[in-house]
Amino acid sequence: MRVLASRRLPGPAWDELDDVELLEGPLVEPRPDVEALAVVAEAVDDRWLDLLPSLRIVANYGVGYDDIDVEACARRGVAVTNTPGVLDAATADLAFGLLLAIRRRIVEADRYVREGRWGSDWAEAVLLGDEVSGATLGIVGLGRIGSAVARRAQAFDMRVVYTRRRPGEEEGYRSLDDLLREADVVSLHVPLTEETHDLLDARRLGLMQDGACLVNTARGAIVDQDALVRELVSGRLRAGLDVFAHEPSVPRELLDLPNVVLTPHVGSATAATREAMTRVLVDNLLAARDGRELPNRVYA
Ligand code: DGY
Repeated sequence: MRVLASRRLPGPAWDELDDVELLEGPLVEPRPDVEALAVVAEAVDDRWLDLLPSLRIVANYGVGYDDIDVEACARRGVAVTNTPGVLDAATADLAFGLLLAIRRRIVEADRYVREGRWGSDWAEAVLLGDEVSGATLGIVGLGRIGSAVARRAQAFDMRVVYTRRRPGEEEGYRSLDDLLREADVVSLHVPLTEETHDLLDARRLGLMQDGACLVNTARGAIVDQDALVRELVSGRLRAGLDVFAHEPSVPRELLDLPNVVLTPHVGSATAATREAMTRVLVDNLLAARDGRELPNRVYA
């Protein structure tokens, strides 16, 4: 089975693929020999599918597969797979790191030292932050990653409230609007779909408390980015952002704001997690090659 890959993925599992070609530049010519794609954030749509008439599987490197037109693939009998599970801990760690960085002003403090501005004793009232313990964390989407964030929050003595797809009666469950009103920190853990696009629009951002912090390690387009920029420039909200609506572009207005910590979509970026993601992707490709059930097939 000939695999066309948008790049070589890290880790030993990659070498188990026996017929891989790396895509050099954009796909423009028909490739009837290709039966499998391994992609990282490429927009796989009808144009790609027209050029790949023998395609059987699109294996996505990542849990979020919003760049792939899964419906178009299904219409042509092409399966789509992702890499769930193995990146939960790394992504939850980063979400928590952003939360800590914002509430305890860690990036600002680092800059303060490097710029030689530290000239007083430690008890001077500079860089005062907010407690993490005792604060309320609102988790939007209590799936695998959201639950991993909740476990970390419990160890930090935070109060956790959450939304999830299936409404519940349990203590801690809130409607999205109530969660936004109540939380000191809101962390997003829903996939990007038609329903979640701009889920946090200007009205909903306006429900957040003054000084509340938004952490986004999910997808930038879940938030109305222009509305968020307005809230951050005004200083009313704070944010830790790992994802953006049009990556790798980051709104210029955010670059000098002290109330924002920015990272370049590194939620899954540990060596071990990235290798584990390759393992899962390769397992799906090998299953397709051998005619076995795909371990991580996704549906529209
Ligand atoms: C994913 O898996 O969707 C992530 O965005 C990659 O870190």
